[in-house]
Amino acid sequence: MHTNRATQSRSLHWKFMSTLAKQTSVVKAVRGTRDLLPPETALWNHVESVARAVFARYGFGEIRTPIFEDTQLFARGVGEETDIVSKEMYTWEDRARAQSEKSQSLTLRPENTAGVVRAYIEHKLGERGDLQKLYYIGPQFRRERPQRGRYRQFWQIGVEVLGPISSGAESPIRDAEVLEMLATLLDELGIKGWRLELNSVGSATDRPRYVAALREALAPVKSRMCEDNQRRAETNPLRVLDSKAPEDQHIINALPKIADFLDDASREHFAAVLAALDACGVAYTVNPRLVRGLDYYTRTTFEFTVPDGSGLGTQNALLGGGRYDGLSEMLGGPKAPGIGFAIGEDRLILILEEQATGTGEPVAAQKLDAYIAPMGIERNAAALALARELRRAGLSVEVGDGTFRLKKSFEAADKVARHIIILGEDELATHTATVKTFATGEQVKIAQTELQSLLR
Ligand code: HAM
Repeated sequence: MHTNRATQSRSLHWKFMSTLAKQTSVVKAVRGTRDLLPPETALWNHVESVARAVFARYGFGEIRTPIFEDTQLFARGVGEETDIVSKEMYTWEDRARAQSEKSQSLTLRPENTAGVVRAYIEHKLGERGDLQKLYYIGPQFRRERPQRGRYRQFWQIGVEVLGPISSGAESPIRDAEVLEMLATLLDELGIKGWRLELNSVGSATDRPRYVAALREALAPVKSRMCEDNQRRAETNPLRVLDSKAPEDQHIINALPKIADFLDDASREHFAAVLAALDACGVAYTVNPRLVRGLDYYTRTTFEFTVPDGSGLGTQNALLGGGRYDGLSEMLGGPKAPGIGFAIGEDRLILILEEQATGTGEPVAAQKLDAYIAPMGIERNAAALALARELRRAGLSVEVGDGTFRLKKSFEAADKVARHIIILGEDELATHTATVKTFATGEQVKIAQTELQSLLR
């Protein structure tokens, strides 16, 4: 019996191995997803640390919410009719593991505003009474057609400011401050030529009146529009405004503008946002067609774009955001007006790479302070001990191997470090080191105690 089972498992093992051997094709990353490798990841880390530093100066704290949520959250928050919810979500039925459990529909987050507002409600952050200023950095997932600057897993750096009315969360100063912070962040990152476009989409009651007017205006002309716009005119007329179809632009330009449907309060709010931006010297363009693709927006909506040729291909929206004064209530929470944005971090990196190298290639890695080359394997341990000392003193160091010939050590060192430290028999006996500085070609033999100041 025992042997039988052992034989069986051996034969299963061989079957498995031979199937593996027959499958010569390599498993690859899934379409629309990417590996981020060094040295490129150094730029990602740089961008994130600049963002964290800027957010800290404006009083923001980090929030980390789960990567998957109950599907209902996005259906109710982002909106069933939006492209994101109707076409692009990664949703699955999560099976119950016990009789006492129920299966549940879960979704990889396509965006993070809904998740942050859910957390705000769940942790009763509103009861703290003050403004919640939160930021996040993390992956989001949308099943879009992949192209340059558009991925199925992409990263966002986002911010949400929300709170009870008494915290001032509804004030136009919040909108202007968020926009001014973005301008500062993009300037500090060195993004050139960005443009801020903004609009007001009005209150929850303004929008249906506008949509009705759009439908009416589209009815007699839609048959002359492209197929996509004919469909949008039926299902979601606001989306017609986003259309880039050249042949339809003359029709779209003549459609009613949302500005003419705003109530007095929304109109005044928007004027106050613009006045505060003027006072800060942040340049902007009002774009009456900017309505954005998520249902939760009210009043201020905005996008930052970069000029063609900035490295994004056809995707020129670097970031987007706006106000969502009714979202908390849509999710069953208390009244909590808010405003926020999300930067497409992948796009930010593409622009910085394009600016740095002109080719969109990754920026070269920063060189280490030193490369230690032990001469002979008997010197390996001493080399590692010296590396430990230098690294603990804050220097960046790589260690070679005593089997390498001197020429190979020099080549390896020149690739990764600014100096090479040669540790031979003589150096170890006299507590010295031979150091060559690649930039100048200078070579010196110094006491090991002087190494730190020389390398700095
Ligand atoms: P969104 O406009 O859907 O807004 O996305 C924001 C940014 O994420 C876009 O401008 C773009 O840079 C980037 N992005 C979106 N989809 C992709 C993709 N497939 N590949 C690469 N980058 C992409 C939101 O997500 C809102 N939650 C923003 C917000 C926060 N509104 C208020 N608070």
